[in-house]
Amino acid sequence: MIWSRLALALLFVLLYVVLCAAVWWRHRGLQRRAAVEAAALLPTADAGPTVLVLHASQTGQGEELAWQTAKSLHLAGMPVRVCALGQLQRADLLTARHALVIASTYGEGDAPDSAATFARDFMADDQPLDLRGLQVGVMALGDRTYAHFCGFGRAVDAWFLRQGAVPLFDRIEVDRADPAAITAWRQRLSHVAGTADMPDHADQANNADWAGPIFQPWRLAARTHLNPGSQGGPVFHLALLPPDGEPLPDWAAGDLVQVLPDADPGRPREYTIASLPTRGCVELMVRQTRRDDGELGRASGLLTDQLAVGGLVPLRLRAHPGFRIGENAARPLILIGNGTGLAGLRAHLQARSAEQASTVPASTRPVAPAWLLFGERQSAHDAHYRDEIEAWQRAGVLRHVDWAFSRDQAERVHVQHLLARHAQRLREWVADGAAIYVCGSLQGMAGAVDAVLRETVGDGVVDALIQQGRYRRDVY
Ligand SMILES: Cc1cc2nc3c(=O)[nH]c(=O)nc-3n(C[C@H](O)[C@H](O)[C@H](O)COP(=O)(O)OP(=O)(O)OC[C@H]3O[C@@H](n4cnc5c(N)ncnc54)[C@H](O)[C@@H]3O)c2cc1C
Ligand SMILES: Cc1cc2nc3c(=O)[nH]c(=O)nc-3n(C[C@H](O)[C@H](O)[C@H](O)COP(=O)(O)O)c2cc1C
Repeated sequence: MIWSRLALALLFVLLYVVLCAAVWWRHRGLQRRAAVEAAALLPTADAGPTVLVLHASQTGQGEELAWQTAKSLHLAGMPVRVCALGQLQRADLLTARHALVIASTYGEGDAPDSAATFARDFMADDQPLDLRGLQVGVMALGDRTYAHFCGFGRAVDAWFLRQGAVPLFDRIEVDRADPAAITAWRQRLSHVAGTADMPDHADQANNADWAGPIFQPWRLAARTHLNPGSQGGPVFHLALLPPDGEPLPDWAAGDLVQVLPDADPGRPREYTIASLPTRGCVELMVRQTRRDDGELGRASGLLTDQLAVGGLVPLRLRAHPGFRIGENAARPLILIGNGTGLAGLRAHLQARSAEQASTVPASTRPVAPAWLLFGERQSAHDAHYRDEIEAWQRAGVLRHVDWAFSRDQAERVHVQHLLARHAQRLREWVADGAAIYVCGSLQGMAGAVDAVLRETVGDGVVDALIQQGRYRRDVY
């Protein structure tokens, strides 16, 4: 008996060691790759002044384009530095000779979260900069269906010009990642490289980077209606498998997929991934949208209705660095969301749960606590993934769960009201180093949550949280 127990214990230890080794090996590989990429972009002593490639991005497209831009310039022999606009210091701009800025727009013509401090500290013109020695090129990312098309990119461009910066070329405006506009940007990079065209070797080596997103036929493996009987729009849980014969690609909690609806070529829709690769498939939470003309939304209609289980849909995965765990892996997490916003929070909770399970014995390195605040309409129909959430509560992954069911009582109760109710707890968690992740509706939820945060801990603390990457949002 004692021998079989000993053997079992040894087996667990062995499995644990193998698991740790695999995690370490993968981590080392990622670190090495990142180091190689970063080193490739470091300025060399005699290569001339560094070109600043600046990005202001919410869901990562602008950041992705910034890195592609930097790689192209590097291959053309130019020293480059990639930096988020919000991380920029005044001295960086005052000493630079060339800056390329890629800026998207959020809210109603506003800056992405990562550039909010730049908008406040730099663009408020009470402390103008003398940028007459700077040449600047701006690419504004946006969507013409919004009232303030490319609002922030235009404002950034105008600000640089007001500071005396010299335009390298006319601002390029990109409507929903229009490939023609991105090609125009790529061509303008030759102005910076000082060549009629980017050198051939740079072009060839870079073609793959600039080829545009590649969509592949993913298979819908399962679809479940999560909220039958709800007063709200139908929400579906989907499971998708990669193209036949291809392995499941890797991704991290917080990442997105892009789906191409057939009838709307070139205009993808984003969906936050609700699972980790360990689930063996990409899981999504999709709300069926009805357009004003009564038709189903193009992508959500395809995914939740027209596409049969077993059918194929053009899809690709996209990293969303701004909603990943990043440096917050060891911090307490405050997870706030509503509706399909639970998708991104669920992926983060799966990651925390896996981390806890891999900690043997659990007491040696307790996983930092998490607190979930989730809002929907009716507890009887809309408590999505209730079983999983309760299991995470029992396992200690979730220390607190606050459900806000707005239609269960006469007065409307939303997550922002529960957050305000728990103001003292919020202050304590933030003081203990918590990171705040918000996922779901921009209208109604994210703005109201932001207001409660600011009322409770103060504007200065909220701005510092954004700067430190401790306040991250995936809102739409
Ligand atoms: C970062 C991010 C993450 C997201 N994550 C999720 C998620 O996890 N789950 C989820 O369900 N959604 C998510 N979304 C929203 C999703 O990307 C889509 O916007 C949503 O599914 C609607 O797309 P659709 O193609 O179905 O609708 P569309 O066909 O694009 O219609 C959407 C709306 O546009 C208007 N509209 C557009 N054209 C017309 C027309 N010709 N006539 C009438 N009305 C029109 C209507 O008001 C309609 O309601 C996310 C969005 C972003 C940006
Ligand atoms: C919630 C939300 C609000 C947006 N608001 C605007 C807007 O006011 N004006 C605009 O031109 N584009 C707007 N966009 C479109 C984005 O700017 C565009 O999709 C951009 O390519 C995103 O780039 P990013 O991934 O780098 O953040 C909005 C997108 C979302 C999801």
